[in-house]
Order: sequence, then C-alpha cells, then structure tokens
Amino acid sequence: MPRKAKTQTRSSLSQYYNASMFRADTWNRIKNLCQRLAEGRGRPDDLEAVSSLIEQVSPMEEYFAFPGRLVVLQIKSLFRDEAYEELFALVNKIVGALMSESYRRKHINLHSIIDVSEQDEEEAEDNDERIRRRPYFEVLIVDDISHAQQRQQRDSLTDFRRDEDAFTYEPIFVPSFEDALIAVLFNPAIQSVVIRFGFKLRSAHNMPVLNRYLMQAQLENLDDLEPQDYGVALADVVNAMRPELDLYLVTDQAVEDIAGRVGDACRRVFYNREDFLELHTNILRGVDARYDTPFFTALKQYSKQPTGVFHAMPISRGKSIAKSHWIKDMGEFYGMNIFLAETSATSGGLDSLLEPHGPIKKAQEMAARAFGARKTFFATNGTSTCNKIVVQALVRPGDIVLVDRDCHKSHHYGMVLSGAEVIYLDSFPLHQYSMYGAVPLREIKKILLELKAAGKLHRVKMLLLTNCTFDGIVYNVERYMEECLAIKPDLVFLWDEAWFGFARFGPTYRTRTAMHSADTLRKKYKSEAYRTLYAKKQKELAKVKDGDIDGLLEKHLYPDPDKVRIRAYATQSTHKTLTALRQGSMIHMYDQDFNSKVEESFHEAYMTHTSTSPNYQILASLDVGRRQVELEGFDLVQKQVELAMVLRQRVSTHPLLSKHFKVLTVRDMIPAEHRQSGIESYYDPERGWNEIWDAWSGDEFCLDATRVTLFVGGTGLDGDTFKNDVLMDQYGIQINKTSRNTVLFMTNIGTTRSSIAYLIEILVKIAKDLEERTEDMNGPERRVHEKKVHSLTHELPPLPDFSRFHDAFRPDPNGTTPEGDMRTAFFLAYAEEECEYLGLTDGTLAKAMEEGRQVVSATFIIPYPPGFPILVPGQVVSDEIIEFLRNLDVKEIHGYRSDLGLRVFTEDALVRSAERMRGK
Ligand SMILES: Cc1ncc(COP(=O)(O)O)c(C=O)c1O
Repeated sequence: MPRKAKTQTRSSLSQYYNASMFRADTWNRIKNLCQRLAEGRGRPDDLEAVSSLIEQVSPMEEYFAFPGRLVVLQIKSLFRDEAYEELFALVNKIVGALMSESYRRKHINLHSIIDVSEQDEEEAEDNDERIRRRPYFEVLIVDDISHAQQRQQRDSLTDFRRDEDAFTYEPIFVPSFEDALIAVLFNPAIQSVVIRFGFKLRSAHNMPVLNRYLMQAQLENLDDLEPQDYGVALADVVNAMRPELDLYLVTDQAVEDIAGRVGDACRRVFYNREDFLELHTNILRGVDARYDTPFFTALKQYSKQPTGVFHAMPISRGKSIAKSHWIKDMGEFYGMNIFLAETSATSGGLDSLLEPHGPIKKAQEMAARAFGARKTFFATNGTSTCNKIVVQALVRPGDIVLVDRDCHKSHHYGMVLSGAEVIYLDSFPLHQYSMYGAVPLREIKKILLELKAAGKLHRVKMLLLTNCTFDGIVYNVERYMEECLAIKPDLVFLWDEAWFGFARFGPTYRTRTAMHSADTLRKKYKSEAYRTLYAKKQKELAKVKDGDIDGLLEKHLYPDPDKVRIRAYATQSTHKTLTALRQGSMIHMYDQDFNSKVEESFHEAYMTHTSTSPNYQILASLDVGRRQVELEGFDLVQKQVELAMVLRQRVSTHPLLSKHFKVLTVRDMIPAEHRQSGIESYYDPERGWNEIWDAWSGDEFCLDATRVTLFVGGTGLDGDTFKNDVLMDQYGIQINKTSRNTVLFMTNIGTTRSSIAYLIEILVKIAKDLEERTEDMNGPERRVHEKKVHSLTHELPPLPDFSRFHDAFRPDPNGTTPEGDMRTAFFLAYAEEECEYLGLTDGTLAKAMEEGRQVVSATFIIPYPPGFPILVPGQVVSDEIIEFLRNLDVKEIHGYRSDLGLRVFTEDALVRSAERMRGK
C-alpha cells in the first residue's frame, strides 16, 4: 500500500522546486530583514516575518552540519534579546559561508562563527594549504539519542582526525527513518550513513517541502515494519535512492544474520560496538575507494618519471614543442603536463586499452560499479564508435534488428557493417514542432508478434532505441524490456544513452536507465512473488486466442521467469553530459549471457573499432569523471535539474518572455495516450510545481526536465536563424539543437545560476528587440513578418514515416514482415553504373514517380536538423518524403547533391538485385 502523504498544502512553498531552493531563499530573506533591523530601518511586520522564517529554517538545519543546531539556537537567542546588529552579523556570515561553500574548506569551529570575528579566517590561513583544501563531507548517523550523547559521539569521532587524513568530515545526527531519508536526499554533502538500532520510524517535522522527499522515495508498507527491521529496510531505501553512499549498519542482532539480509547495500555491519576508531577509519577508507582514480593517478605518476623517448611520437614529454622556435605557444597554451602525459607506453605503471590488466582495467571496473553495470568499457572515439562495437559484437548477417528510425547515424552504419536485416520503427511525430518523439511500445510489440506469427522470432536479435532522445523524451525502459522479453525472452537491448550519462545520479532519472532497469528486472524475475504473478497473468492471458495480435496488444505481457535472460547494453557519451574530454564515452553492459555468448565477439568488435593509439588524456578524464559522479553526481544533477526548472519558471512568468516565447511542456511533447499520469507540465504559473514522480514511475514517456525546448515560431525567426544569427552571433550563446520553430537549451552539471541569469537577460533583450522591430514595421514589412510567423506556426510539412525497403532489398518480399537488407543496397551503390541522379528541383524525380516508377535511394540522406536519415540505401522514396525534403529550410543535407539531385538506383540495377536476392 502506498504510503499516505502528509498533508500537502499549496502555499507559497509550491513556488519552490525543492527544499534546497527554499532553504537558500529563506536564509537570504532572513539576512535582508535582519539587516533592516540592525540598521534601524525595520518595518512593522519585520519582526514577525523574521521569527516565522527562523522557525521555518530551523527544522531544515537539522539535516546539515553547517551552520548546525547550536548556531540556530544562538540566532534564536539573539533575536529574542533584540541584539539585531549581532544577529545580522552572524546571519550574514552564515549566508556568505553557505553561498560560497567556504565552510567546506575550514575546520568547522562553531565558536569562531558565532564570534563573528576574523579569527577563523586567520586560523584557516595559518593552516597548511593541503589541509584547508582537502575534500569535506558529512556523515549521517541515524540514532535516537540526546543532544549530550550526540556531542559526545561527535567528539569521539572527530578526536581521531589527523593532519595527514585525505578528507575531513562532520557528523550529523537524525532520530528517525524518515529523517534519515530526508537527510540523504536534501543534503548532498552526505557521503556515508551510519545506521544504528533503536531509532524511530516517523519524523517529528511535517513540512510540505521536506515531505516531498518522502514522496519521491515512494515508500510502501512502512507501517508494517517491525522496529528490529528498520535498519535493514533503511539501508535498502537509502541504497535505492543514493547507491553511491557508504552505509554502515550497527546492530544488536546476530551480525551474520543481518549481513546476509542487507546484501550489497552495506559496506560493513558492526556489532553493537562503540568502536569509533574503526568507524572513523572505515568512513575515510570508504570515501577513498570512490576518490581513487587508478588510471589518472598512474598517468600522473608516469609523467613525473624521467624517460628517454626513442620511438615515434615527438610530442611525448613536450620535446618537439619545447625546442621549437615556432610552436612554443602551443606549450604555453596547454601547459606542459599534457605533453608529459602524452605517451604510447603501456607498461611502467600504465596499461593497454586493448588488453587491460592494470589501472585501465581497474578504472573500468570502478566505472561499472558507479554506473550499475556488470562491465564497463571505455572508448576514446565517442558513442559513434561504441554503438558500432555493440552492434557488431551481437549481430550477425541475417539477424533481424528492430531500430528506431530517428536514431543516431552510427546505428544505421552499424546495421550496414553487421549485415543485419533491419526493421525501422517509427516514432510518434510532433508535426507542429517539426520533431519526432519516440517509438510507442505498442508498435514494437506489434512487430514482434507479427515476426512471431511469421515464424521469424528466432532470428530477431536486438531492439535498439535512443534514451533519452535529443529532445528529452525518456522511455519507460523497464516496461519496454519486460513486455518485449515476454515475446522474445532473450532479446538484446541496446539503449543509446549518449545524452543520459548523468541520469544514474538522480534518483528519479536512474529508474529510467538501462543498467538500473536491467538490474531491477533480473531481481524481480528471480523472486517467488514474480512466479506467482506470472502464473496468475498467464491464466488471464489464456483467454486471448492464439495469434490474436490485437488482443495481446491490449495486455501487459510478462516474461516466463524460466526462460527470460536479461541482456542490456547502454552506450553513453560521457563527454556530453559529465566531465570527460571530447570523445570520451563508455559502453555499459548487463548481459547474463555475456561470458557464454558474447565475450569473444565483443573483443573482436572492440578491436575492429578501437585505435591502437588511444588517447590517454581522454581515458584519464573518464576515470576522473567517474570519481566526480560517485562523490558529487547527486548534487550536480540535482542542481542541473533545479536550474532548468528555474529557467522554465522565469520564461513562463516573465510578461515579455511569455509573450514571445513558450517553453514546451510535457503535454506539448508527449501525446496524452502516452502520459498515463495525466501530468501536463512540470511548472504551471498558477499552481507552481507539479510532483513529477507519478509521471516518471508509470508513464510510457516522460520528459527530461534538463532539456528546455523554447518555441520561437512566434518571433518570425526559424530555429536555425535564431540559433546562429541571434543567440550565437549577437550574444555568444551556444546551443546545438533546433527544429523549424524551436531551439533547445540544455542545462548540464557545469551550468551555474549566473549562466541561467545571463540567458534570461539575453532572452529579455531579444524579446525587447523583437517588440521594437515589429512596432516600427511599415505595412509591407509587417505583412512579410506575419507571413513568416504564419508559416512557422501553421505551415509545417508533415514528418514522413519510414516508407519501406524496395523488394530488391527484401530477403522475403512476399512475407508479412518488412525487414530489409540495407548492406546489399549500400554496397550496390559503390558501382557507379547502378546509380543515377534524379533532380528534386528540375522535376525529373517528380516525373519518374508520376510515371509509376519506384524510386529507390542509393544513399543515406541526412538533413540537419533533424540529423537522422530521412532516406536510407534501399528505401523507396515516397511522396511524403519528397514533400518534406522540398520544404526543408535547412542548409545542410548530407548525402544530397543540390547540383545533381538524389542518388537513386537505376531500374535495371533493381531488377538484377531482386534476382540476386531471390537466389540467396
Ligand atoms: C543519440 C546519439 N547517439 C550517439 C551519438 C554519437 O555520440 P559521440 O558524439 O559521442 O560519438 C550522438 C551524437 O550526437 C547522439 O545524439
């Protein structure tokens, strides 16, 4: 039974996306009001306002080590004593330390803060730089103990601090299960959680803004828990929300018994002991295990060694640069370290990417841990390469692969390389914004059931989808895999997560990643509860007649637990969404059959596509990027989402911005039939923020909030012009995705509050400029402008579906399923005499089609945007595609020669190919 939410009142709180924003804002408001009071400018209701704000902030501070409970008490007492000057000085100092995060860099000294003197600054300066700069974190201790006991325990732990420690931490104490959960979701500085026994279930606080965290965790059956089980249950929930945290369980029950039940969630289980030294060392070691960067460290070490270079690679150790008279500026620009670390050595502490045994192997294993994969492979040539590796490793010529047609071109080339028989899947179109959505589950189930009916299911190998799409449409990965596995129990899934590397580190986002879903399903199908469910569902399904595809499409299908194999791969452009140098990507694997069926072919595929000179800087950056997300991914992703939400809110509520632009909402981008929760937008100016967890837990598709699509059609400028002529040329703002009438802004883990503020400022300037320009237009100019606006908002060429492969490239032209052999078409086009050009503008193409000729593309035609092939080799050109190409107002169409037209197969070539295909 879902947990009953505490009373949620729609108050001004609904204007805050989360408690962090509310906390920061509350402290700022207290500061401003205290300043007025201190300067004797207080207004009549200021006192009440300050009192109420302090009451609001004080429960929140229980989840943070800084400023901490004692300081909040001090604030209350100064306020009571009307010591406003001191109060303002203290609050000002707290706000400064919170905003600049300077408290992390200092040994926290409550007295120095309360004294509001320069003392702690001086003290800090006296400290050795390394100590001052060592990373800081917080440790959550869940135990229902008195304040005096807390103080004593804190001292017991902090007494073990040593100057040589690599990190420093502060403990925080919470008394209940709910408080612990709020703390780990609210306070991103927490890195370790010590779960003792004897704590309570419920929190004493009832603040809507904090209760949201409990709703996010979607706790079920909490009241059914016995107190002795709270610890294990809490470990499981915390592990589900923030798997990167180190959990330590202290128990008064048999340790062996508990250790068996907590599974992987806990790092250590201690028996009823107050062994603070052991706890302290474990806490530091736990964080160190995430901080460790084996390859980056090895590379740094290597670069310090004196080495003579007697092979090629003159740039190694900067030799060719340092002695040059002409390229010294390169050395000055990059600094020498990068060249000291440039090497082709695979020994001397380094490793080989192609046969890793040392630090690269270890770094990949750590990445697998961080991303929840069974194995992770680094790639130095982007996800374009990762996709080809996975496809080649798993697909043999003649295997049937279901591919989302608007996927990245690397997949299409992968199909050519592997010789797959391809079935393209159509996404739902968003004609009014000239963009595609994603592929509905029903369409995939239908094609799988048709393949089954045609006796071809055994040849179906892989389903390949893009999650999330460039525009931010996110699949319900778990549901898709479940229902597809019900039809084809060993189907391999390749989820292109080029844009979704960060998702693992947001608790809600994580649920829609391939690795998390694979793990969830694997555990689910192993459970007895699932067997019971499956048996029940099979009985219900028995009522649907065999072969009744429409009947089956209406049902949620469940895989047979005795047959199902979880086989999922995800490819991620780490460099797109996390810290990594360009081209740094990862392949994550969760395949139960990897060792028995794939390892060899994967190795071959990896060898095929991987350079024998992989760039070490890229590899080191992947290693460091992994460290970062394991230690601050949760914080950074939370802020990334928060900033995108702020951008949404500002555009929707600003009178001028909302007049000229519109942020597309979930409703605009996902048709109602795919949004079972009914949630229409993340932010609504009238009602504030909507809870998004319902949408994320059940809807067929949801929207990645970090992608903010701005509709600019009303300005009379198309997306491309808006991007290049306005944003880039006039204001230096860089974006990379547009459609005919939209531009896409993305936040990332590096986005700051000021960059959002700058963007808003620029959008306001643009809107003002547009306003002035339209006001000053004369009659004819206005008519031209209105025509342009009308065209961009109403005359949008319908987006074409994939037409079909020509029979000359269909191995089974009389069959009921549409698979095509793209490789044959691709290589046939190498023969000049088999191809000709038909003009799009000179009428030759239209004439041929009018005369009934089936015109078949010999190449990939890829317009930018949308950036995926509108035609592939062997595909029949349809009227809709011609119409779409004619109406495209983009300058870049790969594969299309405007001077010659479309490259198509001659009619004779098609006849010969059909004959060869029949003879196959
Ligand atoms: C969905 C998708 N997959 C793969 C890629 C290729 O990634 P990379 O640039 O890392 O090679 C891209 C690039 O934009 C992409 O959008």
